[in-house]
Amino acid sequence: MENYLLIATLISASLVFGCYVLVQIGETCSSDVNDCGTGLQCLECNSQNRCTRVRTASPISKVMELPFNQYSWLTTHNSFASRVANLSLNSQISSVTNQEDSITDQLHNGVRGLMLDMHDYHGDIWLCRGPCTIFTAFQPAIHVLKEINVFLTQHRTEIVTVFIKDHVTSRNGIYKLFSKAGLRKFWFPLYKMPKNGSDWLTVKKMITMNHRLIVFTSNATKEASEHIAYEWNYVVENKYGNDGMSRGHCLNRAESFPMNTTTKSLVLMNYYRNVLSSNEACRDNSSPLIRKMHICYTAAGNRWPNYIAVDFYKRGDGGGAPEALDVANRNLFGP
Ligand SMILES: *[C@@H]1O[C@H](CO)[C@@H](O)[C@H](O)[C@H]1NC(C)=O
Ligand SMILES: *[C@@H]1O[C@H](CO)[C@@H](O)[C@H](O)[C@H]1NC(C)=O
Ligand SMILES: *[C@@H]1O[C@H](CO)[C@@H](O)[C@H](O)[C@H]1NC(C)=O
Ligand SMILES: *[C@@H]1O[C@H](CO)[C@@H](O)[C@H](O)[C@H]1NC(C)=O
Repeated sequence: MENYLLIATLISASLVFGCYVLVQIGETCSSDVNDCGTGLQCLECNSQNRCTRVRTASPISKVMELPFNQYSWLTTHNSFASRVANLSLNSQISSVTNQEDSITDQLHNGVRGLMLDMHDYHGDIWLCRGPCTIFTAFQPAIHVLKEINVFLTQHRTEIVTVFIKDHVTSRNGIYKLFSKAGLRKFWFPLYKMPKNGSDWLTVKKMITMNHRLIVFTSNATKEASEHIAYEWNYVVENKYGNDGMSRGHCLNRAESFPMNTTTKSLVLMNYYRNVLSSNEACRDNSSPLIRKMHICYTAAGNRWPNYIAVDFYKRGDGGGAPEALDVANRNLFGP
């Protein structure tokens, strides 16, 4: 009998011990064993494999009664430019990437803002990094939009924003594309977007009404011609690429009104370099990202960013971009 007790004690002790063996955020880990806790992944940063937080907590799970502009959302720059994109047409493309996983995986990890560069190409609309060539054309946009459709269909309380860098000139091209992808039913109507700095609908209302896809275009004429919101009528946004990395200030990109223009209810913060390296990104997406957020907060007239846009969103030296999101959301609506 005593032996059984002893064995039972040993087993439970080893179970407890087993839990502690899981490596915690920021600690070094083994990428072969993947010994990190849940929501963490063993990824290299500063020449060391570390347990990195790759999953963002959904701010909606805590409170849904606030206007959409009272939340902060993780956004990926060139979301489509990853090695796992459909490369059936060309393998050389993988040399230029900004992310490491599919749109579906990004959405499952809590990414809610997607930056997509759309171009007319091969009689269709494609996602390309720069002008479409065999080296830059990742895949037809419809594939990615269908992934968004599956996600919104399966997750009825989630809201996604698409920022189109819009080079499409074919008539009603974008409208037709989203229709074909079955996304029109989720479309947040243009006329419900506040133009004078007032609040957006609450997240709860957006969910009830199924207005769960916000689409912005970078082409100003399409707001009138195709009823697609021109991004900078609604959003202020700082400079992107190397120009945006400065520690001293947070200046608006050329197309945007100044950051402190409070008649635009949404604030987007870019923080990524022109050089595409996950090593740089892992340093950037750590404490520098949070520092920059404080600078942009002040520049934007004491407003926390609603969208935080990064490259290689999974890379960081521990908490990474998800931690920056937590900080923004805590400041927006409390713990
Ligand atoms: C990959 O691209 C090819 C050619 O465009 C297409 O036929 C195929 O369905 C695509 N696969 C996926 C998974 O998107
Ligand atoms: C914006 O879209 C319109 C209509 O498709 C097109 O004619 C125009 O060239 C586009 N402008 C830019 C700057 O791409
Ligand atoms: C802003 O516009 C909305 C309609 O779009 C209106 O209901 C609201 O009163 C306006 N707010 C201000 C401060 O002008
Ligand atoms: C807004 O920022 C600009 C600099 O971009 C500054 O000149 C201006 O005084 C600021 N306006 C307000 C109301 O703070």
